[in-house]
Amino acid sequence: MRVLVTGGAGYIGSHTVLSLLSAGHDVVVADSYANSKPSVVGRLEDLSGRAVPAHAIDLTDAAATDRLFATEQLDAVIHFAALKAVGESVVKPLEYYRNNLDSTFSLAAAMQNHGVTRFVFSSSATVYGEKAPVPYREEYEHLSATSPYGQSKVMIERVLADVAQVTDGWKVALLRYFNPVGAHESGQLGEDPQGVPNNLMPYLAQVAVGRRDHLTVFGDDYPTADGTCERDYIHVMDLAEGHVAALEHLDVMSEPVRPFNLGTGSGTSVLELLRSFERAVGRELPYVVGPRRAGDLPAFWADATRARKELGWAATRTLDEMCADTWRWQSQNPQGFPDA
Ligand code: NAD
Ligand code: WQD
Repeated sequence: MRVLVTGGAGYIGSHTVLSLLSAGHDVVVADSYANSKPSVVGRLEDLSGRAVPAHAIDLTDAAATDRLFATEQLDAVIHFAALKAVGESVVKPLEYYRNNLDSTFSLAAAMQNHGVTRFVFSSSATVYGEKAPVPYREEYEHLSATSPYGQSKVMIERVLADVAQVTDGWKVALLRYFNPVGAHESGQLGEDPQGVPNNLMPYLAQVAVGRRDHLTVFGDDYPTADGTCERDYIHVMDLAEGHVAALEHLDVMSEPVRPFNLGTGSGTSVLELLRSFERAVGRELPYVVGPRRAGDLPAFWADATRARKELGWAATRTLDEMCADTWRWQSQNPQGFPDA
């Protein structure tokens, strides 16, 4: 298939481009570079040995998005493009709702206009909200999220379900990611947050490489085995392969719209992840325990049964591999991707 990968220069999108190319698909990238660098595309070409056509486009521009569909023959869309910083979304709700919703509206309209019916959407475990029983299961219906970012994902899932109901042939996979970490095993592709990292793994990687003094563990008085929060960390290459599996499943999917958890099915604490990262680096890393971070849930992980049964996909890479690959990327690229 010839697949439009929106946000294809970003963290998860770029790794998915490589998995798509390895699986024999053709890829077209669309990215505004709002949170990524154009130099990522060159890395993708070097790593794959293939040309990766890339369009610099803001997908909230519906006319430009439609023109893209007029110039490229597309069979499917994988929609990663979004703003994703939870804390920032609380401060800038309009910016988040506008970017994340409008870009999806543009794409859906262009797909309808040009007869493209296959859609894979980047949703998030955050849609399960604060009350869902753990492990999270796709059948849970009371989706809600505490941040505008998370709420934009809940809303988009609903919009796509409504559109699919009335558009002939539409097939939409809603992929709810847990905590993506890790990097491509080459060390040439990885997560490159702009500014201070919001998330645990990239923060820890920057501590290890000397860009930050120490990690602050946000609370050690949670009702968990070691008192720190537990999350379902999933290797970004497992996640990327999950997208290929979902894409290839669409034509036989049992319903027009179907959610799938992409996680490993087990939880890891902040301190366990820290210890694994120390093994990867080969030395102890400085940390202090600070207060809890507002909004953090104590522990959650995926029930990954549906993806295994229906997509034939399961995460296989271990926590130590996630940390070793992150460290290879960060140590070989201490400042991330080059500007040009
Ligand atoms: P990222 O910021 O690295 O990638 C997103 C890409 O989209 C960036 O390259 C950015 O420039 C681009 N983009 C943003 N708005 C755009 C627009 N209007 N038009 C064109 N391009 C635009 O983020 P990521 O971590 O790769 O996340 C990819 C997707 O997965 C997002 O939808 C995110 O919400 C979702 N997700 C991420 C995580 C995570 O922890 N990383 C977890 C769950 C879900
Ligand atoms: C993991 C754990 C922190 C940083 C976020 C989004 C979620 C999804 C994935 C998009 C928590 C602790 C962190 C630090 C720490 N994104 N921590 N010190 O919060 O589970 O999920 O990313 O959809 O929506 O909320 O991930 O990596 O920020 O935190 O102790 O400096 O690490 O308290 O327990 P989170 P995270």
